[in-house]
Amino acid sequence: MTPFPSPRLPLLLLFSAVLTAVLSVGPSSAAAATELVRQVCDKTGDSRYCFAALYSDPRTPNADAYSLAYISFGLAYLNATHTRDHISRLLSSPALADRSPTLTSSLQSCRRGYAAAVAKLAAAYNDLNAETFAGLAEYSGGGARAAGDCDRTFGSSPYAPLMAGRNRDLTRLCEICTAVSKLFT
Ligand SMILES: *[C@@H]1O[C@H](CO)[C@@H](O)[C@H](O)[C@H]1NC(C)=O
Repeated sequence: MTPFPSPRLPLLLLFSAVLTAVLSVGPSSAAAATELVRQVCDKTGDSRYCFAALYSDPRTPNADAYSLAYISFGLAYLNATHTRDHISRLLSSPALADRSPTLTSSLQSCRRGYAAAVAKLAAAYNDLNAETFAGLAEYSGGGARAAGDCDRTFGSSPYAPLMAGRNRDLTRLCEICTAVSKLFT
């Protein structure tokens, strides 16, 4: 009475067995990766943040320097993209320009900076695809610049907290990228 099991099921089991085998290629590679992550994070100003950010990606425990570069530039790229989009949403709020022209112009300046950061981090990604490593540090520096410029644009304005957390995130993520870039020099 029971129907034949779907042919997909055994296939799925096979896949998951293969995946398990691939993922457990031995504790030594995971330990080496952890050593690599430590080497990178020790070069950043906030190593706890660095660990948390890198280990948010499931590939990190088995990552070599090359994969770690993908992971960290990917994190910075996504972060910058999210913040750029967030600024655009703030700017498209209809009441904003009336409420505060200064806030509007600060946000516009931040959006330009973040758009430039996104372009730099995308360029880093292209370089990684081409296995070209010489420009990586400059790209991560360019990403961090957007965050610093945005902070300075707000200065001591009461609106500064609106962007401060996001600027700090991008600064720290780019710091990780800079540390990873040094693995290739
Ligand atoms: C940026 O990255 C940090 C750390 O990974 C994360 O906590 C935060 O939510 C991210 N923000 C955006 C806007 O992607």
